Amino acid sequence: MNPESSRHSSSHAPELLTTPTVALPVDKELVLKVIPMPADCNANGDIFGGWVMAQVDLAGAVVPARYVNGRMATVAVNQFIFKQPVRVGDILSFFAEVTRIGNTSVTVQVEVYAERFHSQKKYVKVTEASLTYVAIDDAGRPRKIENRVEKTQETM
Ligand SMILES: CC(C)(COP(=O)(O)OP(=O)(O)OC[C@H]1O[C@@H](n2cnc3c(N)ncnc32)[C@H](O)[C@@H]1OP(=O)(O)O)[C@@H](O)C(=O)NCCC(=O)NCCS
Repeated sequence: MNPESSRHSSSHAPELLTTPTVALPVDKELVLKVIPMPADCNANGDIFGGWVMAQVDLAGAVVPARYVNGRMATVAVNQFIFKQPVRVGDILSFFAEVTRIGNTSVTVQVEVYAERFHSQKKYVKVTEASLTYVAIDDAGRPRKIENRVEKTQETM
């Protein structure tokens, strides 16, 4: 079989039999949904890891933004695991949860789940990561987080 012709067809169906599907988290917030496009592929035909990292950075910033009340910057990617490949047409759901609030920084855990192109409503965990964001002032220096109580979406 021509691997190129099979890549975007139903060739991944056998993989669905071996990759465990999981339930979506109920203790984390859905912060982003996105579908990768062919322009986001690497030479293997899977989605480029750097593209996934950029989406995780964006998604991870959503919950910290509720704490910092202004400018912030990503100071660290503490951990990043690509558990399964991401493919063109997958529906990706990004879930986030705060794991630490410091004096000037907020650390979040991000988990990414894929609904495969031909298999919606079945979720495969493709990525998990931990990132730290720092509140910064106008000069780009760390700034104390004044209100360390989370603001809910309803109060934003
Ligand atoms: C973010 C930045 C202002 C922090 O400055 P800094 O002098 O390193 O700050 P500090 O050492 O005072 O640390 C500030 C906070 O970051 C945390 N931090 C610093 N380095 C860290 C690391 N490697 N891992 C995890 N947390 C870290 C500290 O624990 C501290 O948090 P706390 O106050 O809640 O305890 C500076 O590093 C910077 O400008 N980095 C570039 C940011 C950037 O360009 N990001 C990419 C694009 S957004």
